[in-house]
Amino acid sequence: MCGIVGYTGPREAYPIIIKGLKRLEYRGYDSTGVALQNGQGVKVYKKKGRVAELEDAIVGKDLHAHVGIGHTRWATHGEPSDRNAHPHQSSSGKLAMIHNGIIENYSQLKNELISKGYVFHSDTDTEVLLNFIEEIKKNNNCSLEEAIRIALKRVVGAYVILLVDADDPNTIIAARKGSPLVIGVGKGEHFLGSDASPMLEYTKEVVYVNDYEMAIVKPDELILKNLGNEKITPYIQKLDLELAAIEKGGYDHFMLKEIFEQPQTVYDCLRGRLDPVAGTITMSGIQQYADQIVKASRIVMVACGTSWHAGLAAEYIFEELCRINVEVEYASEFRYRNPVINKGDIIIAISQSGETADTLVAIETAKAKGAIILGVVNVVGSSIARASHGGAYTHAGPEIGVASTKAFTGQLAVLTMIALKIAYIKGSISNDRYMHLLNELNEIPEKLAWVLNHADHIKKLAEKYKDARDFLYLGRGYNFPVALEGALKLKEISYIHAEGYPAAEMKHGPIALVDETLPVVFIATKDAYHEKLISNMQEIKARKGRVISVITEGDEMAKSLSEDVMIVPETDEIVAPMLSVVPLQLLAYYIGVAKGQDVDKPRNLAKSVTVE
Ligand code: AGP
Repeated sequence: MCGIVGYTGPREAYPIIIKGLKRLEYRGYDSTGVALQNGQGVKVYKKKGRVAELEDAIVGKDLHAHVGIGHTRWATHGEPSDRNAHPHQSSSGKLAMIHNGIIENYSQLKNELISKGYVFHSDTDTEVLLNFIEEIKKNNNCSLEEAIRIALKRVVGAYVILLVDADDPNTIIAARKGSPLVIGVGKGEHFLGSDASPMLEYTKEVVYVNDYEMAIVKPDELILKNLGNEKITPYIQKLDLELAAIEKGGYDHFMLKEIFEQPQTVYDCLRGRLDPVAGTITMSGIQQYADQIVKASRIVMVACGTSWHAGLAAEYIFEELCRINVEVEYASEFRYRNPVINKGDIIIAISQSGETADTLVAIETAKAKGAIILGVVNVVGSSIARASHGGAYTHAGPEIGVASTKAFTGQLAVLTMIALKIAYIKGSISNDRYMHLLNELNEIPEKLAWVLNHADHIKKLAEKYKDARDFLYLGRGYNFPVALEGALKLKEISYIHAEGYPAAEMKHGPIALVDETLPVVFIATKDAYHEKLISNMQEIKARKGRVISVITEGDEMAKSLSEDVMIVPETDEIVAPMLSVVPLQLLAYYIGVAKGQDVDKPRNLAKSVTVE
């Protein structure tokens, strides 16, 4: 939800922090700030707006320091403003803190502090926690580290906090529960970040901090402890990310780069797992639970947003291939509903970031009731990945654009492989169909490249339809989730209202919306539902709706009913969503650009929703 960066070592801290914040802006960008500890005290510079605006505003200020922390915010408590921007300073001015998360019981703590004479300068929960820590330090006459430990035992909510202290010039103290924190280990220096991108060019040795852990970070020392003050040996891992993976690489936006990466990212997702010659699918994180999945009476897909759409597509795929009952749950609804979960139920948690709070808490709830949790996650080492019993990474690489694109096709590829693997073990599909689908899946990267070669045509359609007030996206079967995903992409990138619907549902009400101003996008690739979809297209056309269709190459019937078409190659209906979604990703992107929107950082959004 927010981006946090820290540095302590021999280099100038400010340039490292500000560049790190720019790399993390996809996590939140309504306000930003830095706190610099230069040995004579802590200087805080912060303001509403983007990182670049802060940078411009503090040119010429005293930015010298070897220790510092920085924050880019997605507002939870308190509107985006200079006063609510992080870092916050304690009432003594000696402590500065940044925070990613939500303190649920902050108002109770705030009332206690106000009764002790504390005055607050912001509306944030962060300032309350910081002064609560200072109050404990003062009252108990203890170290800052001990004060933090005591305070966090009273805190209800999620947090990553980084603190600097005017009285301790080299140290950053950090703690986490429910929000991500990575520490980069350098030679005589340490880096901190919400993910590894701020430290990648300096070190590839990282420590993922776990929930209820604290880190005391000095240039040449990293001490990890739990809240019981017991030391923990830091587990140093080697990152396999390259810097290029987090740069734009010549594209105008990360979103466009990531759309065009999909032939490679789906190939990377299949590589080493799918062997169409041998007819094998190797997924160790699934294999170890294969028996339980085969015997399961039901599978529950739990996710949010685009990942939920992948789960909906997986419902059709798993039920068709594995003949296992599948339910698809919005994580936020699932976890508050007191769901019926039986021991041995299979929960598949789908998440690009691996940090979505609703999904994380949903699987913790299910795990506590004896379910087996399988994560389909993109970010290696993320909280959801580590909270799962098993699963498989999508290997799509860092997805910086707020709108999820390559992660979605990676999720579909992984989920399809899992379903095929289980169906093969269970014997619920014939060997011929199994081998056919393996080959169809294996050809997807090449067919994705074919679709992307026609991007310019979609750019022209974007120009033509960019001023529409509303859009409808319609699909059936495997393409119904694609209709939902296409509508979400358009909404979140262009701010045009769009709705996805099962095509047959139109006649139960929404068809009243149809007139000559309404573009209706049909996902109409050749499949078992195609004939019915043609009828639906005729129903819309008869009411002067403007029909735009994603069609299979050579489908003259659908083309004749459409004002405009976006073409994809022939493929089996089960793997078609990986192709049919791409024209919709491009349509949303090009309309967003044509309307002058910031497609990588859409208003009100953040890449990872780490608050409930
Ligand atoms: C998708 O374009 C959105 N950015 C959003 O719906 C996203 O899919 C959702 O927040 C879930 O995120 P996750 O996959 O990281 O859990």
